Amino acid sequence: MSERMVSDVLTKPDTALEAALRPAAFAEFTGQALSRERLEIAVEAARRRGEPIDHVLLSGPPGLGKTTLANILAKAMGANLRATSGPTIEKAGDLAGLLTNLEEGDVLFIDEIHRLQKTIEEYLYPAMEDFKLDIIIDQGPNARSVRLNLPRFTLIGATTRAGLLSAPLLTRFGIRERLDYYPAAQLQKIIQRAAGLIKVSLDEHGALEIARRSRGTPRIANNLLRRVRDYAEVRGDGRITRELADKALAILEIDQHGLDEMDKRILQAVITKFHGGPVGLNSLAVVVGEEADTLEEVYEPYLIMEGYLHRTAQGRVVTELAYKRLGVTATPRGDQSSLL
Ligand SMILES: Nc1ncnc2c1ncn2[C@@H]1O[C@H](COP(=O)(O)OP(=O)(O)OP(=O)(O)O)[C@@H](O)[C@H]1O
Ligand SMILES: [Mg+2]
Repeated sequence: MSERMVSDVLTKPDTALEAALRPAAFAEFTGQALSRERLEIAVEAARRRGEPIDHVLLSGPPGLGKTTLANILAKAMGANLRATSGPTIEKAGDLAGLLTNLEEGDVLFIDEIHRLQKTIEEYLYPAMEDFKLDIIIDQGPNARSVRLNLPRFTLIGATTRAGLLSAPLLTRFGIRERLDYYPAAQLQKIIQRAAGLIKVSLDEHGALEIARRSRGTPRIANNLLRRVRDYAEVRGDGRITRELADKALAILEIDQHGLDEMDKRILQAVITKFHGGPVGLNSLAVVVGEEADTLEEVYEPYLIMEGYLHRTAQGRVVTELAYKRLGVTATPRGDQSSLL
């Protein structure tokens, strides 16, 4: 892969910065209005009953606020949050250790829950449903199962790939919220809030320019803000205006329309290799060198939302807008059988 993968650079979490900019309460969390409202109601209702909230599954593309919401939920419940992730739980014993160390009302946050092993997932079912854990002690003829009572806890799972979760696991989450890409006006607000926190001078036009080019993603918006700030300090007078943001983003090779390298590669592939489509997901995945599930859950939703791509019964089809953005003219749909 010789192309510079802007997406990799910009979507990589920057832990120090993210911790500083992460909203700590619902009131500071911009956007996702319906999800936010439903979660606030769930918290309030549970608090009034003096119970932990139902298990929560947060899904959606990277950088949209899943980890942030998990932290906000725990805080609003006045609960401790224990964080782990699907791939780090290697053995059933790891999970047993985590669960038996929980206290009443604690939140167990499992990030990338789609990467949990099947065998471990099965231990979770009774734990989620009845707050019981069946563990096997000893081996061979002496092996026996012991049932432990667990404190009532809340499991919050986060995933970028909800489609990979098994039905039994999915249905054990009483609350499921899918986060969506943010419109530019909301990202603009997020950027203005972040600028205040990191003490950058930025006007509303500068914020909007960064917002428009952030691929609907708060993490990217925050990262771009920091890079534009560097430019403003070195090449300007420290203030971020629209003109300055535009110059800085041009140097960073950030697309005018917020598309990243993989977005463009996908559209390019549909256009040049498949005459604009329709093309099946799997064929497209092979051509762009990405997993089909990732294409479907991480990349396509943005391209579809922005009107570059359609999903049809026959496969994926690009729109005229895609041709326009990539600066190519549509090729006649003549003999395409050899290409498919
Ligand atoms: N609604 C929001 N308002 C303000 N800032 C936000 C919002 N959502 C996310 N952010 C910012 O974006 C950063 C990334 O969000 P977060 O880590 O919660 O994403 P994620 O969905 O967990 O991503 P991943 O799938 O990569 O784990 C946060 O640190 C926070 O600064
Ligand atoms: Mg996260």
